[in-house]
Amino acid sequence: MNGGGGLAGTVRVEGAKNSALKLMAASILAPGVTRISNVPDISDMHTMRRVLEGLGARVDRTDHTLAIDTTELASDKAPYELVARMRASISVLGPLLGRTGHARVAMPGGCNIGSRKIDLHIRGLEELGVEISMGHGYIEATTAGLIGAPLTLDFPSVGATENILMAAVVAEGTTTIENAAREPEIQDLADFLVSMGGRIEGAGTPTISIEGVRELSPTDHAVIGDRIEAGTFLVGGALTGGPVTVEGIDPAYLDMVLTKLEQAGAEVGTTPESVTVTRTGPVSPADVATLPYPGFPTDMQPQFMALLSIAEGNSVITENVFENRFIVADELNRMGARVTIESHHALIRGVDELSGAPVRCPDLRAGAALVLAGLVAEGTTTVTEAHHVERGYERFDEKLSALGGDVAYAES
Ligand code: UD1
Repeated sequence: MNGGGGLAGTVRVEGAKNSALKLMAASILAPGVTRISNVPDISDMHTMRRVLEGLGARVDRTDHTLAIDTTELASDKAPYELVARMRASISVLGPLLGRTGHARVAMPGGCNIGSRKIDLHIRGLEELGVEISMGHGYIEATTAGLIGAPLTLDFPSVGATENILMAAVVAEGTTTIENAAREPEIQDLADFLVSMGGRIEGAGTPTISIEGVRELSPTDHAVIGDRIEAGTFLVGGALTGGPVTVEGIDPAYLDMVLTKLEQAGAEVGTTPESVTVTRTGPVSPADVATLPYPGFPTDMQPQFMALLSIAEGNSVITENVFENRFIVADELNRMGARVTIESHHALIRGVDELSGAPVRCPDLRAGAALVLAGLVAEGTTTVTEAHHVERGYERFDEKLSALGGDVAYAES
């Protein structure tokens, strides 16, 4: 892509990747046909579709709606080939246990952002009466019957909260999850499970209470908007000046991101389902620390690093969620940024301008950050391994082009 073109206009976000994936997994819990609308057309959804089809479900897609028929399941296995491609495949573990009492899920590798453990998933499920063993690269889980229990997570892990929630919803008796993750996607999953007949209170707070029910029935549900896709376009607006309006998102999900955009010198306006970002003055330095929701999302950290790299002064980003997520810094430095990493802090010394360069996309959000940086860099930037970006952004190139960005897939 070429820099200097600017972005201006309105873009609509798709449904949240991190919600849609879990709703697809949760459809296992209710035999029959569940319909999920506002599902983004991105490669992670195709991977989860293959996971479900491998279990024996039938999945039909019409535009952005999936009809998932889980009447009959034929397997309890999520194979390595798919789990290695997408770590969130592990979210079939809880639903399979809830539906069939057994599951075999490959140990995830995960994307390139630090060691991502699954001990909290395992410990939580064990407390609900699941026997778990590991062997030959697989988690083998069985239960004679899920029994509700009081649990406290060491850390508010999104994936562990979801897996435990999806098992507890059909366990016998009451489960409470203390120190639960509070992400909007957890709330969406709970709403979905409640519409299937689940009895859940407190989702979106640190204490979730689940009264197990005997069975769930299929439902129809629309996925909430993707706050990370929205935030990515808003950073694009702040980088280039905008104005960029993002529609299809509840601004409340972006509270901390919008606060940090304002600190970085952007003007932010909101309506109940859109956000507009403009910048007329310089980018100001800002300090950002990632934290579980409602803190600043780690999934927006690389995009902010791109933005702060052209600030008038020095900024510090502290990464508290994933240990190895500054991988984008080396690539930004190849474009003239001045980022130094010290443990889980990144010191960003603002430069006047980035310069276009060939760079490599190390993971999904870093890839998005490099594309945004390329839009303001002087000259041409080529981002290789851009398939990572397709995991999480539907038609990213088209949407940026419609806003006026000079971006295109190169012939390979
Ligand atoms: C989800 C999101 C991801 C986001 C992350 C944090 C999906 C598909 N992915 O990932 O985009 O960046 O939340 O907001 O929804 N941990 C443990 N033990 C565990 C589980 C997690 O130590 O059993 C640690 C991880 O190593 C990591 C931290 O907890 O350091 C956060 O992980 P978690 O919240 O579980 O993230 P994911 O669900 O994997």
